[in-house]
Amino acid sequence: MGNKMWGGRFADGPDAIMEAINVSIDFDQRLARQDIAGSRAHAQMLSDSGIITSDDLAEILNGLDQVEQELVNGTFPFRRDLEDIHMNVEARLRDLVGPAAGRLHTARSRNDQVATDFKLHVRERLEAFDEGLKELQTVLVDQAEQHTDTVMPGFTHLQTAQPVTFGHHCLAYVEMLARDRGRFQDAHARAGLSPLGSAALAGTSFPINREQTAKALGFEGPTRNSLDAVADRDFVLETLSAASICAVHLSRLAEEIVIWTSSQFNFVRLPDKFSTGSSIMPQKRNPDAAELVRAKPGRIIGALNSLLIMLKGLPMTYSKDMQEDKEPAFDAMDALDVAIAAMTGMIRDLTVNKDAMRASAGTGFSTATDLADWLVRELNMPFRDAHHVTGSLVAAAEAKGCDLDGLTLEEMQQAEPKITAEVFDVLGLDNSVKSRTSFGGTAPDNVRAQVAYWREQLS
Ligand code: ARG
Repeated sequence: MGNKMWGGRFADGPDAIMEAINVSIDFDQRLARQDIAGSRAHAQMLSDSGIITSDDLAEILNGLDQVEQELVNGTFPFRRDLEDIHMNVEARLRDLVGPAAGRLHTARSRNDQVATDFKLHVRERLEAFDEGLKELQTVLVDQAEQHTDTVMPGFTHLQTAQPVTFGHHCLAYVEMLARDRGRFQDAHARAGLSPLGSAALAGTSFPINREQTAKALGFEGPTRNSLDAVADRDFVLETLSAASICAVHLSRLAEEIVIWTSSQFNFVRLPDKFSTGSSIMPQKRNPDAAELVRAKPGRIIGALNSLLIMLKGLPMTYSKDMQEDKEPAFDAMDALDVAIAAMTGMIRDLTVNKDAMRASAGTGFSTATDLADWLVRELNMPFRDAHHVTGSLVAAAEAKGCDLDGLTLEEMQQAEPKITAEVFDVLGLDNSVKSRTSFGGTAPDNVRAQVAYWREQLS
C-alpha cells in the first residue's frame, strides 16, 4: 500500500529498511506541543486570510484540541509508518474531523514546519536554561554571603597560591554563569524570527499573513528569506555552543566539589541526599552527582560536533540529513538541564568546613606574596629584590619545618636586616585577605559589596 500522504505518486510502500532509516517519530514526538501550536496559528491565519472557510477552521481547531488531549492523556496512536510528528498529527486530525484536515497543509510544508517547531522548542529550552542558571547564581550568592570572611587556599596549578575567601570563590562562578546567561539570551534573540510560511523553500502563491503567525507563536516577526528559513539550524548550533561553554563551567565547579569532598581536603560536605554509598566499602560517601555533572560536557560538546559535521557542506536548502539534528540536541539539552539542577541542589545544601579550609590556607607559605609586598611597601625595596629575599625566607622556613610566621625576627633579619616585627602582621591569613582591596580582589569588604551587587542584579 502506498503512503497515505503521498499515495498519489507512489504505487508501493517503503521497504522495511527504508522505514527504519527514515522514521523520526520515536524522537520528534517531543515536538508535538509546538507542532500543534504551529498548526493552530497557521489554520487561524488561513481562515483570516480567506484561504479556508471559518467552518473548516472550526473543524481543524476542534480536532487539534482532541489531538492535544490524546497526547496529554498518552492515548495518541503514534504510527511509525507516518514517519514523523508532523504527519502523525495531520493524519490523526483527519481520522478525527475528516476532510477539513486536508486543508491545513495549504501554503505550508514540513520543511518550514519542522524549522518552526524546533525553533519554538529551542527557544523554550533557552528560557529554561536562563531561569535555571539564575537559580544557581542565587544559591552561589547565598553561600558567598555566608562566607565573605571564610578563608581558603587559592590555587594556581592546584598548588597553594594565596589565601582567598570562599565567598570570592563562589562569586567567580556567578560571573561565569552570568556570561552563560548572556549567551543564551543572545541565542534566544537571534532565534526570534518565524520560518512558518516559507513553505517548502520558495514561499507560496497563497496570500498568507506571516506577521500574524509569527506573532501568534511569540516570534518577533517572520524570517526574510524562505531559502534561509528552511535551511537554517544556526539556532541549534548556537544553543549547543553556549550549552557547551556552560557545561564546561559546571564541570569545573563539579571537579572542585569532587576535590573538596575528598577526605584529603575535607573542605565541604555534601548532604546525604547528594551523596551515594559504596556497596562494598561502608565508609564511602561518593560525590556521584558532581562526577556526573563533570562528565556531561562529553555529550553536549559531542552533540555540537555532530551537528556541525552534519550541516557542513549541505547545499541549500532542506536535506533529510537535517533530521539528524534532533536526537543529539535533545540529549544535550536534557543533559544541561539536569546538570544545572543537580549543581543547584549541591551548592544549596553543601556545608563548609571552615576549620579545614583555614588550616589548609595556612600551609604552603601562602602569605609569601604578602611578605614580599611588605618589603616593597615598608622598606622601599624593588619587587624583584623583595621576591628574592622572600624566597630565601621560604627556604629557611622549609628547612626549619615551619610556616613563615614560625620564623623568629632574628632569622628574618639574617635575610634582610631592616625587617621589623611589624612584618608578622601581614603573615596572618585574615590580614592577607583583608589587604586584597583592589577592585575585584578577595577582601571580605569587596566580597560583601559584590554580594550586594549580585543581589540587585538577580532581584
Ligand atoms: N522529519 C523531518 C525532519 O525532522 C521533517 C521534515 C521533512 N521534510 C521533508 N521534505 N522530508 O527533518
